[in-house]
Amino acid sequence: MSELTETEHQQDKVIALHPRLAEMRWGDAASKSRFEEFERLVLSLGCPLEESVMMNVRRALPATLIGTGQAKEIARRVEIHEASVVFVDHQLSPIQQRNLETAFNCKVIDRTGLILEIFGARAKTREGVMQVELASLNYQISRLVRTWTHLERQRGGVGFMGGPGERQLELDKRMIRDSIKRIEQDLAKVRQMRATQREGRKRRDVLTVALVGYTNAGKSTLFNKITNADAYVADQLFATLDPTLRQIKLPNSVTLMMSDTVGFVQELPHELVDAFRATLEEVTEADLILHVRDISDAESPNHKAVVVETLKELGLDGDYAPPIVEVLNKIDLTPEIKTTLREDIDGSRIALSAITGQGMDDLMDLLARWSEQNMVELDLKLPISDGKTLAWCHEHGSILKQKADEEWLNLSVRMSPKYQSKVQEWVVELEQG
Ligand code: GTP
Repeated sequence: MSELTETEHQQDKVIALHPRLAEMRWGDAASKSRFEEFERLVLSLGCPLEESVMMNVRRALPATLIGTGQAKEIARRVEIHEASVVFVDHQLSPIQQRNLETAFNCKVIDRTGLILEIFGARAKTREGVMQVELASLNYQISRLVRTWTHLERQRGGVGFMGGPGERQLELDKRMIRDSIKRIEQDLAKVRQMRATQREGRKRRDVLTVALVGYTNAGKSTLFNKITNADAYVADQLFATLDPTLRQIKLPNSVTLMMSDTVGFVQELPHELVDAFRATLEEVTEADLILHVRDISDAESPNHKAVVVETLKELGLDGDYAPPIVEVLNKIDLTPEIKTTLREDIDGSRIALSAITGQGMDDLMDLLARWSEQNMVELDLKLPISDGKTLAWCHEHGSILKQKADEEWLNLSVRMSPKYQSKVQEWVVELEQG
């Protein structure tokens, strides 16, 4: 686990280096968006970002990725700013990382290391913390294998950003493997617990809606707006790491569970995709998925592709996959396309602003309509003294109408079809009795 707090991060002056590799063939807009996203990633650690540098790299060098002259240029800037860390928006091999550290005379952290740092600083629940720890150990062990002879130079723990007297790595490979095994076992137990909780929800047949989306799309803002919860909302990437789950009551009195999940990002290091699968289990179990998109972002179509691809990887594209509704968020920032969008909206898309609340009614109506498709309405007649059954109906459904006379209570209840036979059995029993 990262040993550094955000306050400690704040002491590091940093530089962000965005190598624009010719082979990537990014257009100018995509490059700019990537550049800005990387800046936000770095800023989300709370470090003073002294400078962001974009460099065109014609050919990636195995030893240093960037060219020798370019490395010298960064070293010069490191000296001017007295920076202690350079974040590189690319995956670096252990050798590249070490050579760049020598060239820059400061610490170098690649994209995977940065994402791990952010996840480490954000993980809140026990499961989240364990997942990050596991991902970090896997990341470390892959580096150890290749740089075993340079053990003394390895970074300890997940604290890639450790100070100058950085904690030396004392664990050997076997110890790391032992830790990985222990965490995996603990994780399995925690997952089992979560599965039981989910089972509980299923037994009670509470409909579940999962919010997914590219990082910074506005999921937490929307989640808070809907649930009135005060989950952590920040203009940072990955503000949300662990799924947050809340119960909401729709205007039609149907109750459902809503879960907020970690934001997706392109090139999520594969160590993290595996480690975070459990976090996204809420999504695989959902009855409906709301895909939140920042429609004001020029990169929105690409971000959508990343999300769709990730959902596919989670097995959410088959016949039995839950329906997906796109929520086009931040329409307050895009007045020019708002009208077109509105005309274009069909049943699987909603346009809204989670900040201003515009369009929220459309979403709530959609959820209400969808929830009703999954419910049946039953008319019941109970003896007025049968408080127990009445309480059961309140717990498992929504009472739409009720009318009592001296002897009987006539009820109209909306509930899951799975209770239909149970309730009808009772009615028969009552009639017979
Ligand atoms: P991750 O946790 O990184 O996955 O982000 P997220 O998708 O949960 O995004 P979050 O809700 O943290 O919002 C990101 C930024 O967008 C914040 O600065 C929000 O205030 C802003 N934002 C969210 N919704 C809207 C909106 O409808 N309009 C505007 N203008 N800004 C919004």
